[in-house]
Amino acid sequence: MIPIQAFSGRRHRLASQMQKGVAIIPTAPERVRNRDAHYPYRFDSYFYYLTGFAEPEAVLVIVAGVDKDVSKSILFCREKNIEYEIWNGFRYGPEAAREAFEFDETYPIAKLDEMLPRLLADQPAVFCALGDDTAWDARVIGWVNHVRQQSRSGTTAPAEIRDIRLLLDEMRLFKGPEELQVMRRAAEISGGAHRRAMQNTRPGMSEYEVEAELMHEFRRHGAQAPAYTSIVAGGANACVLHYVDNNARLKAGELLLIDAGCELDGYAADITRTFPVNGKFNPAQRDLYELVLSAQAAAINAVRPGNTWDAPHNAALQVLAQGFIDLGLCHGSVDEVIQSEDYKRFYMHRTGHWLGLDVHDVGEYKRNGKWRPLQPGMTLTVEPGCYVRPADNVPRHFWNIGTRIEDDVAVTETGCEVLTGTAPKTVAEIEELMRDRKKSKSWTKTIG
Ligand code: GLY
Ligand code: MN
Ligand code: MN
Repeated sequence: MIPIQAFSGRRHRLASQMQKGVAIIPTAPERVRNRDAHYPYRFDSYFYYLTGFAEPEAVLVIVAGVDKDVSKSILFCREKNIEYEIWNGFRYGPEAAREAFEFDETYPIAKLDEMLPRLLADQPAVFCALGDDTAWDARVIGWVNHVRQQSRSGTTAPAEIRDIRLLLDEMRLFKGPEELQVMRRAAEISGGAHRRAMQNTRPGMSEYEVEAELMHEFRRHGAQAPAYTSIVAGGANACVLHYVDNNARLKAGELLLIDAGCELDGYAADITRTFPVNGKFNPAQRDLYELVLSAQAAAINAVRPGNTWDAPHNAALQVLAQGFIDLGLCHGSVDEVIQSEDYKRFYMHRTGHWLGLDVHDVGEYKRNGKWRPLQPGMTLTVEPGCYVRPADNVPRHFWNIGTRIEDDVAVTETGCEVLTGTAPKTVAEIEELMRDRKKSKSWTKTIG
């Protein structure tokens, strides 16, 4: 669990970057799935990053520059209501929320429209995320207009509306030790889930049965949800990059690609492993798998301060292009294969993305048109792959083999820390685990 002081510390840091003005950050709305049934609730990542408050119907307001370095954090949230709590469970209510989450002031959410114009009066700027939700945008502009209408009484309205994401994205990009601790645990649970999937996969099972094993491992260790829809793709399905049907039968002789990670206390893990349904790679599968594994090793080796964002991708590409030539998938020199982008017939995505509260986390990849340097505290995925669809000019023994290997890494002072090392990855590790699978059970150690 992240200590509450970490959240108030972030609010203070944000306020000092704002200098003067008012930030308005709502959490995510609840969404109806059908009639009375809702989707599982997930808070807004920006709101949660600054509050640690997980209830819906809440808005954070930060008034920066109240007096020199002094700022004020105000939470609007649902009131206590015994009737609702009998049906739907506990809610803090403003008073308990102020104490538990260290806000300066708290009010019922119903007071928002009344109080916002007052808070915005005589402030130079509003900081918010315009463009995310048109109804919310209209509400913010309504509050500003309300202040403007009082100009004859000498009140001035904010002259500027600024995008708060520019400040928050940069803060979120650099993970503190308390965030890395949660991400390590999310990665450990997710690695255990991949291990469990390998141990429980047999020819004849359905992809969804393996998905159930992943879910079992996530939930039994307290992860609240999958961080994204799990991809459990056997055989040719592995060549569909965003395959999520997960309803085909698994056959001996096929590979199974699983891209799945849990969300723990808001933070995502994102792991892909690929292994043989019957526990043994055939020669063609092994050739492609070993190639992707070498590409990933080269990419991970390139994750270090001083290198730029594109270094891991370029390192992976060099290895893949050479491998595609050696295996008869591409022709010419490595430079030609990369220059002509011929490799994209088999590797059409990039090698990673930022990772954090969102699985594709916030943060700029380029600055002034240039890939930005990697720095300690950044967390990213490293996920090369190879997807071979049937085609006349492709050796037949590679057809329908899809392979991806994805790990999560944190940039350190000297290189990087691999967070997802608990998920077996080498051919020897995978085959050994699957050979022993009748004997062994679940792997992740239980906490608490
Ligand atoms: N699981 C999403 C991704 O790998 O980007
Ligand atoms: Mn990923
Ligand atoms: Mn993934």
